[in-house]
Amino acid sequence: MAVITGFTGSPALPVIERDNCTECGLCTRVCKSETLTMVKGQVEINPASTLGCIGCGQCMMVCPAGCLTVEGRGVSPQDLINIPGPELRATPGQLEALLLSRRSIREFDEREVSREVIDKIINMASSAPMGIPPSDVEILVLQGREKVQAFAEDMVQSIVRSKRFINRFTLPLMRPFIGKEAYDLFMSFVIPVFEAFPRLRREGIDWLLYDAPLAMLFHSSPYADPVDSTVAATYAMIAGESLGLGSCMIGTISPVLKYDRKVKSKWGIPLKNQLGIVVIFGYPDVRYQSAIRRRFRKVVFA
Ligand SMILES: Cc1cc2nc3c(=O)[nH]c(=O)nc-3n(C[C@H](O)[C@H](O)[C@H](O)COP(=O)(O)O)c2cc1C
Repeated sequence: MAVITGFTGSPALPVIERDNCTECGLCTRVCKSETLTMVKGQVEINPASTLGCIGCGQCMMVCPAGCLTVEGRGVSPQDLINIPGPELRATPGQLEALLLSRRSIREFDEREVSREVIDKIINMASSAPMGIPPSDVEILVLQGREKVQAFAEDMVQSIVRSKRFINRFTLPLMRPFIGKEAYDLFMSFVIPVFEAFPRLRREGIDWLLYDAPLAMLFHSSPYADPVDSTVAATYAMIAGESLGLGSCMIGTISPVLKYDRKVKSKWGIPLKNQLGIVVIFGYPDVRYQSAIRRRFRKVVFA
């Protein structure tokens, strides 16, 4: 039995080239699906393991003799690439500088984002971890202001439709079912912004996607871990930052789009897919004079 994902229900297949295997056992240490195990000093492949080979590829990446290959579930030995040398890696100081310099950017200059840069973002973000390989994350890329605005218009109309069901009058009736916290959030945030989006759009202000030249909606198959697409989106943001772009996560889209089958279909999003988050990108039109030290609400060392 293999772990079923949106991609496949079949296990991957590890193959050991016995002539070169030194039986060091490293592959069995990194394999946590119990597909590769050490039996009497020899690496054994157990096709009937608990999860089946999920195709994470860790065994072929760790094998010092290069005698282990994994094929299937979208992975193959052709995917192996050299690990970038230490001189190419960001130091902790460089990484902290990048993270501290990032701001949510909502003011963009006129420049569009080229296809080459978009491909770099996607390529870097695709290195993000996922609950179970292979990645079930999908990205809807809205390249160019025209596309982004067409999507923004659809979403504002969707928000207008959702207001028929969720508004200042219906919400008090829903309170016993949705709980205090959700009620507070809706009353103090969701309803006011849902009222503002269409009003501002009529005034020519895009308060939803901020006239960005690029937007990406990260979503995933219903089999994926619900946070997979948000993890990938976070990687994409950081990738964008390294490429000189500003970005901002937009959380207001998914909760509305989730219930709008028509708009989902129009933009090619499978109806059953889980919606993660939208990230907008563009070249910043503002320069910040300082960064800010933020803190988590609570950190407990148990
Ligand atoms: C999950 C998530 C959803 C967000 N949604 C929105 C949004 O819909 N609109 C917006 O303008 N900013 C949105 N933001 C950006 C936050 O407002 C921003 O991260 C926060 O104000 C801190 O600012 P900073 O990113 O510059 O540190 C979102 C951020 C996250 C992480």
